Amino acid sequence: MAMKNELLQVAQNCRLNAYAPYSKFKVGAAVLTANNKIYGGCNVENASYPCGTCAEAGAVAAMIADGETTITEILIIADTECILPCGNCLQKIAEFGTEKTMIHSADLNGNIKTYTLQQLLPHNFKAGDIKC
Ligand code: THU
Repeated sequence: MAMKNELLQVAQNCRLNAYAPYSKFKVGAAVLTANNKIYGGCNVENASYPCGTCAEAGAVAAMIADGETTITEILIIADTECILPCGNCLQKIAEFGTEKTMIHSADLNGNIKTYTLQQLLPHNFKAGDIKC
């Protein structure tokens, strides 16, 4: 629980810095690694809309840049009711998570829902699927 509060704090702070002038939908994320390190991210939109990146992608990139590779938990926060990571981000989380990886979704009213990666993405494309 203590870690979840820390994740919430980091994700909330990152959300405040989100660059979302087009959607006006600010999202913050924080990942917890197997070594108990926390990395945050926010969505970064672009005038060329498809260039925009999700909050989860930013947090995962920060984790990798610091040399961490295993996600045990991730928390995302947005201002509507608890949102779930998009399919693209679930695939990014799966690259560095396990089926037990917890995905917490928080809103600004203090509600938090928790799922496992297995629940949200029971089947995904894996390194072992690449046969060439
Ligand atoms: N967004 C995220 O950052 N994470 C999600 O899980 C869902 C959507 C962002 C992308 C875009 O900047 C804005 O929310 C609206 O889709």
